Amino acid sequence: MSSGKSRFTALLAITAAAAIVTACSNDAADQADAGATGNTMPAAESAAGTAAQTTASVANSHPTEATPEYGRRLLRETPALIGPNNPDPEMQYSGNQLACSSCHLNDGKTPGTLSLLPTSGRYPRQSNRDGGIRDLRDRINGCMERSMNGRMLPRDSIEMIAMEAYIDDLGVQYAAMTEAERAPVEPPAFIEPDRAANVEAGRAVYEQHCFVCHGNDGGGLRVAESAGGAYVFPPLWGPDSYNNGAGMTRTLTAAKFIKARMPFGQPILTDDQAYDVSAYINSHERPTKANRELDFPDKTLKPIDCPYPPYADDFPQEQHILGPFNPIREYYQNLKK
Ligand code: HEC
Ligand code: HEC
Repeated sequence: MSSGKSRFTALLAITAAAAIVTACSNDAADQADAGATGNTMPAAESAAGTAAQTTASVANSHPTEATPEYGRRLLRETPALIGPNNPDPEMQYSGNQLACSSCHLNDGKTPGTLSLLPTSGRYPRQSNRDGGIRDLRDRINGCMERSMNGRMLPRDSIEMIAMEAYIDDLGVQYAAMTEAERAPVEPPAFIEPDRAANVEAGRAVYEQHCFVCHGNDGGGLRVAESAGGAYVFPPLWGPDSYNNGAGMTRTLTAAKFIKARMPFGQPILTDDQAYDVSAYINSHERPTKANRELDFPDKTLKPIDCPYPPYADDFPQEQHILGPFNPIREYYQNLKK
């Protein structure tokens, strides 16, 4: 499994390039369209293209067999294969420039936060969000409609079956792993501070620890259109990022991920920093998910940090977004008694 390591090295190598590009785009701050599309990097500097998720050309060779390897590529090259960078509109299912592997790091193969190794054995299961039993294909479509701001893949499409086959394969690997191999190499799990998250403090964390890769507008960093337009560093908000119905919009979910995994390759944030920067990135505009009010038909099962109403309690929406979460948690614990 060489790809993890080499990808990591490549990404670190271009961090320097990212800094340069970001600096340039600061100079040209008035230049109109740096915003929505993210910062661009000349093709010549994109030796890290090997690390990038997508190029337009890969999309042209469309596999016709639902192999696990095709599934793995779908997780990694999502925008090119089933997203906006596929020239065939019928194949454009995902609606942003994220790859599944932008969040399920290393194609879900690394143990720990958002790993897909133990996933296959967990389905079918009850989904509180949908209010019924859902299988792995439904769950993949959950991320398609929210994290990927797209539409559902047909359940029997080659692409859906290939992703399922890949995740099932990971499950087989997981079953064969020892306890030691399963143990995540991550900082200690996020522990939620007993206070409201502070968006302004989060901005400072962002500028110090995130900006260099994710850009001054949260737009990420992509190679030039002529080189395929692939993102090297994914967008955290704006039109190319996850929508406002995604799990990552929840302050606690994002803080857990960020504490465990970011800054990429060097996760060093304190709980307070992870908490505040999570609130900061989610305080920005992002695409809209329709019908969010229908989520969690049983509102008492709604996660306490779900940022959108309706709720089965009288806490203000602001508190569901920023905390403090303990009073809300206690309220629901008392309901169950
Ligand atoms: C913006 C980040 C993000 C992206 C991009 C993303 N996901 Fe997810 N995914 C999540 C989060 C957050 C969860 C929920 C984890 C939890 O329930 O605690 C999740 C959960 C899942 C699960 C259930 C895992 C389990 O063990 O129960 C599957 C399967 C999954 N995602 C597949 C995908 C696939 C396939 C794609 C691409 C089509 C994708 N995800 C893209 C963030 C993301
Ligand atoms: C060294 C570059 C780098 C730094 C610094 C960095 N990230 Fe990331 N980030 C990445 C990469 C690369 C990915 C996608 C991982 C992949 O594709 O393997 C990512 C993915 C993410 C994602 C999930 C995907 C998305 O676009 O929403 C979030 C959220 C995120 N980073 C937040 C942060 C935060 C918050 C910080 C600062 C504390 C930070 N990152 C610092 C490189 C970086």
